[in-house]
Amino acid sequence: MFNRRKMLLWAAASAVLPGLCGSVPAQAEDAVKIGLILPMTGGQASTGKQIDNAIKLYMQQKGDTVAGKKIEIILKDDAAVPDNTKRLAQELIVNDKVNFIAGFGVTPAALAAAPLATQAKIPEVVMAAGTSIITERSPYIVRTSFTLAQSSTIIGDWAVKNGIKKVATLTSDYAPGNDALTFFKQHFTAGGGEIVEEVKVPLANPDFAPFLQRMKDAKPDAMFVFVPAGQGGNFMKQYAERGLDKSGIKVIGPGDVMDDDLLNNMGDAALGAVTAHLYSAAHPSQMNKDFVAAYKKAFGNRPGFMAVSGYDGIHLIYEALKKTGGDTNGDKLIEAMKGMKWESPRGPISIDPETRDIVQNIYIRKVEKVDGELYNVEFATFEAVKDSGKTKK
Ligand code: PHB
Repeated sequence: MFNRRKMLLWAAASAVLPGLCGSVPAQAEDAVKIGLILPMTGGQASTGKQIDNAIKLYMQQKGDTVAGKKIEIILKDDAAVPDNTKRLAQELIVNDKVNFIAGFGVTPAALAAAPLATQAKIPEVVMAAGTSIITERSPYIVRTSFTLAQSSTIIGDWAVKNGIKKVATLTSDYAPGNDALTFFKQHFTAGGGEIVEEVKVPLANPDFAPFLQRMKDAKPDAMFVFVPAGQGGNFMKQYAERGLDKSGIKVIGPGDVMDDDLLNNMGDAALGAVTAHLYSAAHPSQMNKDFVAAYKKAFGNRPGFMAVSGYDGIHLIYEALKKTGGDTNGDKLIEAMKGMKWESPRGPISIDPETRDIVQNIYIRKVEKVDGELYNVEFATFEAVKDSGKTKK
């Protein structure tokens, strides 16, 4: 009688507090939670969409269980407003008890979350933002996107070597735009190039028209442009409307302005634009052909560089969990990520063990028509480029 009563009590307790009684449902205990903070609305929404799509695609292809643990994505929309990012990261860490925070469509968002990653001792996987300083803001930050220094130094050198003597610059007026401008100028002027006009445009809803008139009046050989992902289509529309294509002022820059996501709708004004970047949908590897085909099939459009940065970001998380055997200790995960190398749709990449930043090929590309569609066709490769834009210590 006594034994039976004890048994019943034990059974009742198990039903209420399964975590204490050893009969834990596999999913609840074994889930790894990733708080994915992206701009799904507002001016940077195309970045959020690309990254969210790519993560969905990766998880469809590879499954949603790693090292015996179920991967759970909790997506939050910060509209690229850093106050939102901070609040959402806090909620994800405190209430949802996430094991990673990831995403971050713009630099101010990645920076806003940095102290929280440090405090919580969990990895912050930056899948979009591109200012060099970001990885210095927390030992828990790892980046799978890019830095503006990686591409802007290379296009600066290319411009002087290819007969471009005078350049007018147009850059988005916030941290990555300032990085792009600084590193381009350093390399272009060191080689003897001259900056004849310099304009900075607001990040939010920019009207490029008045700035474009100043570009035209300065009569440069080319204009160096940095606008963040999502704005290139509008920029090129106004560039054509102002007749800059007809006046022979070529667009050069990091490849953000020629994002594959938008390129095909830019029209012939984009033909001949030369940019340096990490990814082209026309990258000729088999892995990229398969990636582009699968992405198009799933979402109906071409992946851009943000999609690839998201695809690699979730891959990094999966591989780090495999290496720790499913252990979600933040320090162990960061150690596992350092030095990791893999083949991405963009080409070979790795995580610099010193800086936790991405090391990748940078390709110089020219917009050409291939089978009736516009593509960034790669014609030169700089291998294993590290970020050169960090603070000198
Ligand atoms: C950034 O805010 O760091 C950023 C966003 C979009 C880009 C590049 C940089 O295309």
